[in-house]
Amino acid sequence: MRLDKFLTETGVGTRSQVKGYIKKGQVTVNGNLAKDGSVHIDENKDTVCFQNKPLSYVKERYYMLHKPMGVVCATKDNINKTVLELFDKELQKGLIIVGRLDKDTEGLLFLTTDGEFSHKLMSPKKHVEKTYYFEADGVLMEDDIKKLENGVEIGDDEPITLPAKVSHVQLMDKKVSGRLTITEGRYHQVKRMLQAVGCKVTYLKRFSIGKILLDDSLLPGEYRELSHAELEALGYIKGKDE
Ligand code: URA
Repeated sequence: MRLDKFLTETGVGTRSQVKGYIKKGQVTVNGNLAKDGSVHIDENKDTVCFQNKPLSYVKERYYMLHKPMGVVCATKDNINKTVLELFDKELQKGLIIVGRLDKDTEGLLFLTTDGEFSHKLMSPKKHVEKTYYFEADGVLMEDDIKKLENGVEIGDDEPITLPAKVSHVQLMDKKVSGRLTITEGRYHQVKRMLQAVGCKVTYLKRFSIGKILLDDSLLPGEYRELSHAELEALGYIKGKDE
């Protein structure tokens, strides 16, 4: 395959970034400086290094799943269906679940074979925004919204939550719906935040992670691969530390 294709597929960067890296002399093939991305290499035999580190050719896979309710985010479960079981048998091997949604929560979930992707997206340091639509029993007044936005206490031994965003709030008959955007991923976080201001969540759906929205053509239980553009929109380039 062409060297530039190999470099983009191993996640070194986009086509234009790869071109730049070759130009700057950051790529070698079998110890020799690569001069042009159009040269052909044998991905099973040649040793390609980027910034002196050898690259191995494993085609990673990245999926978005519309997680349905009633299915658990676990690789094995004796009672409940798992999110992995929603995938074709031949795709299940090596899949990692990126973060967790509760059994009764539906919506956007990523799964991947790439541990680095999972790690980076979940890192508390990254503050990736996750937006949820909620319905709850209770009312949300202006000061409750302020509390949620500034940070609330959700457990005795836990720090208060990081600043969040609340929008689209609608009240009707002691019921409330709205959107909550958080940058952490603590256990039952959305439910516990709303509980902290007197609201009991009755329905929860995650519809975005970073800039990626749940594809509305996916029915609950359906999945598709993430595109290269979507990975880029998530700020993810394999092998790149920020
Ligand atoms: N917060 C929750 O309470 N539950 C989820 O599934 C996700 C976020």
